[in-house]
Amino acid sequence: MTDMTAAVPGYTPVARLLHWTVAVLVLLMLPLGIVIANEWGGPAQTFLYNLHKSIGATLIPLVIIRLLYRITHPAPPLPDDLHPLQAFAAHATHWALYVLILAQPIVGYIMTSAYPAPVPFFGLFNLPAIWPENRALSEQLAVVHLYIGIAIAVVAAMHIGAALFHHFVRKDRILMRMISG
Ligand code: HEM
Ligand code: HEM
Repeated sequence: MTDMTAAVPGYTPVARLLHWTVAVLVLLMLPLGIVIANEWGGPAQTFLYNLHKSIGATLIPLVIIRLLYRITHPAPPLPDDLHPLQAFAAHATHWALYVLILAQPIVGYIMTSAYPAPVPFFGLFNLPAIWPENRALSEQLAVVHLYIGIAIAVVAAMHIGAALFHHFVRKDRILMRMISG
């Protein structure tokens, strides 16, 4: 292995903490959503429903904090020897993920409020409704919520595939700079 990319700087500890916290929560939310939507939860159905809503609602401020941090702390530059098309693909994928993971919990929250169903916060209290009762809108948003969920799964799979490609095929520091900085 050469050290041609050793000079590529890493992500800050805050950027890494935010990336992995949001990544774990979003990757948990996808199967959780599928389980509740198909009523596969059995006796845990209500618990899983509330967990999905609680984690989802938490993701709204978390993703906003992440975006504000990102806007004020630009990402470290990509290695110079990366093909411009690959650099473009990386940026497009990252910004698509940001838009999708911000839109998805907002759509989920509006859809639940409009149903109308409660949005419990980890069994402590209910969050306020953010939309007046509108069952038809809620049902349309459920379809939107499904499609955005599929889009997140597809783009995240490409993203994780790219990270593994960098690490195991290109053997550069792209994965490591998000792990150890
Ligand atoms: C990043 C955050 C979120 C992700 C990735 C996510 C993902 C998903 C997915 C994949 C489904 C299954 C869709 C289907 O099969 O029809 C789902 C269902 C659902 N989600 Fe979310 N969700 C998020 C946030 C939220 C939030 C914040 C709420 C409400 C406060 C919420 C409420 C629901 C409800 C009620 C369902 C069941 C819908 C149905 O039965 O048709 N989600 N979610
Ligand atoms: C096992 C799962 C994952 C791995 C291995 C991984 C790996 C990485 C790596 C290595 C980077 C840095 C790319 C660079 O240096 O240009 C990165 C950035 C990023 N990741 Fe992930 N990621 C994972 C999951 C996710 C998930 C689930 C999401 C979204 C929900 C996500 C969203 C992002 C975003 C938005 C960036 C861009 C950061 C920036 O603003 O520069 N990642 N990821």
